[in-house]
Amino acid sequence: MKPLKSFLLLIAILVLIACNSNTDTKEPVATEPLPLEEAKVQDGKDVATGLAAGEGLNIVKSHCLACHSGALILQNRFTREGWHKKIVWMQETQGLWDLGDSEPVILDYLAANYAPEEFRGRRKPLADIEWYELDQ
Ligand code: HEC
Repeated sequence: MKPLKSFLLLIAILVLIACNSNTDTKEPVATEPLPLEEAKVQDGKDVATGLAAGEGLNIVKSHCLACHSGALILQNRFTREGWHKKIVWMQETQGLWDLGDSEPVILDYLAANYAPEEFRGRRKPLADIEWYELDQ
């Protein structure tokens, strides 16, 4: 074989190896939840992550921060159904485990705190106004 040919062959093989290792099924960053801890809350937020205080926060922190930061939650807004789809997607492609009894608690928390914002057009008309006379 000519040197150029074998050189090209070598390059082709190296490229194939490189591509192959990239498409290997990715190992999940974590395979189990973090230990359940009591979140430190200040001004309605978890001090460590900025996640909203509320029912389910500790469970969400334990399951949802094992692989990535809470920023992925903070920057997203979905309905309960939408959050459920994300969880299923992570389970099918990213190695997220079965959430068991925690799943409804997590979904309730996400839907309560990170739902799409309602359209806020004009404010509601004022009601029950107590008028008063201006003293000149
Ligand atoms: C086993 C690891 C793992 C766990 C545990 C995990 N995720 Fe993820 N999640 C991922 C990976 C990987 C991505 C993709 C990150 C990227 O795109 O950089 C992701 C992405 C996301 C995204 C962004 C999705 C998008 O469309 O951009 C959201 C939101 C999210 N995760 C929420 C959660 C919530 C809520 C939980 C807890 C129920 C959770 N994750 C637990 C692995 C995990």
